[in-house]
Amino acid sequence: MVLQGSISHCSSSSWLIIIPRLVLLPQLLLPLLLYFGNKTEAHYKNIPAVIVFGDSTVDAGNNNFIDTIAKGNFAPYGRDFDGGNKPTGRFCNGRLSTDFISDALGIKPFIPAYLDPAYSIEDFATGVTFASASTGYDNLTAQVLNVIPLWKQLEFFKEYKKRLEIYCGIATAQTIIQEAIFVISVGTNDFIVNYYVFPERSNQFTVEEYENFLLSLSEKFMLEIYKLGARKISLTGVPPIGCLPIVRTVFNLKFGRACREDLNEMSRSFNRKTRDLVSKLRREVKGLKLAFNDPYGLILSVVKHPHSHGIDIVAEGCCGTGVLELGFLCPKSNECSCPDANKYAFWDSVHPTEKLYRIIVDYTLNTTLRELS
Ligand SMILES: *[C@@H]1O[C@H](CO)[C@@H](O)[C@H](O)[C@H]1NC(C)=O
Ligand SMILES: *[C@@H]1O[C@H](CO)[C@@H](O)[C@H](O)[C@H]1NC(C)=O
Repeated sequence: MVLQGSISHCSSSSWLIIIPRLVLLPQLLLPLLLYFGNKTEAHYKNIPAVIVFGDSTVDAGNNNFIDTIAKGNFAPYGRDFDGGNKPTGRFCNGRLSTDFISDALGIKPFIPAYLDPAYSIEDFATGVTFASASTGYDNLTAQVLNVIPLWKQLEFFKEYKKRLEIYCGIATAQTIIQEAIFVISVGTNDFIVNYYVFPERSNQFTVEEYENFLLSLSEKFMLEIYKLGARKISLTGVPPIGCLPIVRTVFNLKFGRACREDLNEMSRSFNRKTRDLVSKLRREVKGLKLAFNDPYGLILSVVKHPHSHGIDIVAEGCCGTGVLELGFLCPKSNECSCPDANKYAFWDSVHPTEKLYRIIVDYTLNTTLRELS
């Protein structure tokens, strides 16, 4: 299936067929020029593809094709996706931030999951996600719900690169990878699925030490994809974890579901260290454009001042009763969910609504992604 609106940089020869037809049909010329003119302008200096690694914040449905309960491929997930009622596996009512980025760059309206057999290398050539809901930097995090660890996502990327070379030729494949924007969005689960839930890592590491451990894995991962040709990387920080609805209800019910300030402090500390790592790699790694995408301040501003962002409810998610629902815990019927997800910051007890993702992307496009163009 070729995604509507996608522009493959491998198939430029088709332009030769289009151009003589334009000459013959001048009445079509103006609308077409406007159409492609707009696309090119939005094209952000010709980014050919968006290539994504990470967790549920950027998984478009890879978990549908593995043996795990961490799936979001049933109603009411996808309630507002692409015309409505399309549970793709995205943990959201609609599109994710990476889908909006791809769209804003003029590439295609959403990024397909690598394991989805409905898509081929022709689709993936302009963008693909290897992400897996519930995964983390730490191998142990992925083990909790048997999802795809980051090292395995890297193996998929190596396979993708080979397929791309066969499809486009080695030189073009290399250019695509060199010019593509790589998005890495992972880390939250290492804390809320692993460290604060199971004793193994918390017995072994203090929070500080665990943060350092995760960032050593982050560094290693980025250097691996750099070695494979990546040159433009956007590394995403963690949100204010203490304000996720699940944390408010599970850890903080007795305090009226306030945000947990200690966990927010942990997020800030992790993001500070991530920023330092980004600065270090920018100094040390030749030719690497690396930007830190820190959503913490913006999400906290939405949580503290929702109305100035057009949002009403932030302490609970839209799905189900909004308290504890997440993935398989989200009731498989629409009636239990809120009528208008756009009034909510969170879709379930952990994940942003499409509305919040769009707010984040508007900001990212003006900040992080500018640094990479
Ligand atoms: C994670 O697992 C992979 C595959 O078994 C292994 O190569 C890697 O060293 C592990 N990472 C850590 C930090 O243990
Ligand atoms: C991003 O930049 C555009 C154009 O300069 C502006 O219209 C828009 O308001 C900005 N958005 C944010 C979130 O800063």
